[in-house]
Amino acid sequence: MLLPGEESCLSTLSMDLDGSEQDPEVKEYSPVCVGREDDIKKSKRMTAVVHDREVVIFYHKGEYHAMDIRCYHSGGPLHLGEIEEFDGRPCIVCPWHKYKITLATGEGLYQSINPRDPSAKPEWCSKGVKQRIHTVTVDNGNIYVTLSKEPFKCDSDFYATGDFKVIQSSF
Ligand code: FES
Repeated sequence: MLLPGEESCLSTLSMDLDGSEQDPEVKEYSPVCVGREDDIKKSKRMTAVVHDREVVIFYHKGEYHAMDIRCYHSGGPLHLGEIEEFDGRPCIVCPWHKYKITLATGEGLYQSINPRDPSAKPEWCSKGVKQRIHTVTVDNGNIYVTLSKEPFKCDSDFYATGDFKVIQSSF
């Protein structure tokens, strides 16, 4: 049974926010409705397939974040990870090998010490952007995800495209 508002979300799955039909040539750049704001505020996370790409959407401390669902390291299921703060930055911790990925930027974080000074306190460092981050918008209680158009090669692309892509896999 559909709840109030669900029907309007589902009916816009293949439409732009303005309600126009998508042009197949640019459909990967169009926002896709993935669910209702009320639902993700309760569940704190949800998964979706957006233009043939599997993503996870988190609702954390009043903000939405979307990223490729499979971890850039080895394809781990990020939607099953815990969110923790490292160096004041909220991160998803991959359940497979505990890599830490910032929700806001997709950077991989690690701790480093100076080997010439073993007494020094370990510091958090960034490996750079490793996980592709997508844009979340809210319109009339519906959550939309727009895939990243950033042209750089992101490590998580390996598991989101090509031979290693597994849509709706049973993790
Ligand atoms: S697969 Fe995510 S840390 Fe290894």
